Amino acid sequence: MKGIILAGGSGTRLSPLTRVTSKQLLPIYDQPMIYYPLKTLLDGGITDILIITAPDHAGDFLMFLGSGKDFGAKFTYEIQDEPGGLAQGLALAETFVGDDSCVMILGDNLYEHNFKKDFEDFASGARIFVKEVHDPERFGVVEMDERGHVLSIEEKPSKPKSNYAQTGVYVYDEHVFDLIRTLGASDRGELEITDLNNVYLEKGALTASTIEGKWIDAGTFESLFKATEWRREWVAQHTKKNKS
Ligand code: TTP
Repeated sequence: MKGIILAGGSGTRLSPLTRVTSKQLLPIYDQPMIYYPLKTLLDGGITDILIITAPDHAGDFLMFLGSGKDFGAKFTYEIQDEPGGLAQGLALAETFVGDDSCVMILGDNLYEHNFKKDFEDFASGARIFVKEVHDPERFGVVEMDERGHVLSIEEKPSKPKSNYAQTGVYVYDEHVFDLIRTLGASDRGELEITDLNNVYLEKGALTASTIEGKWIDAGTFESLFKATEWRREWVAQHTKKNKS
């Protein structure tokens, strides 16, 4: 399975910070943001990874990540000229992925969950990962049956059908790029990942798994700050352990 980190976008909610650098290079305590989704992939056993960035600051990603050697991995880079949506970003990975399956992680999502078994167990179709939240109306809400088959996904519904929020990791089989070609642009002019997932859903091939532990989408000032606090605590705990 190949890995993709989607690290383009415009980061308007974090302006003016994102006027001077990319969102995914902003510090979360002791590391640039992209380190965390990268670590999630590495811990999941994925070492062949494509990093998709916007043209601005692309060189800074290379400066931090390099060839992948320092991380025991191999990195490839691709530029998304315009932020045309998550599915449009994913489409840029077609040559890189070839006939393999792939996992895409959003470059601003932080996880405590270890995905190794999820990735190993994946066979076909598409799989999304959900987290129970107390304010589902702020998220993409996933309704599923007891076997994890997805029945519906609704964006920020006023009457949520479940408490499960969709998070930023998506696993797809080798048909994904053909299916992206069948999508049209949404009202906001983007190729939407939800439209792609709905194609799998209609075929009965979309499943969802729940994740353990914390999950933070660090795309706002408040969540960026929470992510920093979380990492600071983690570092303090691990330093203590190493000293004792
Ligand atoms: P978002 O947070 O939805 O969008 P954004 O990063 O542009 O931020 P804002 O809404 O504040 O303007 O994107 C989720 C992740 O996907 C983030 O890591 C950026 C990435 N992304 C791309 O790489 N390409 C894209 O076209 C889009 C829309 C997002």
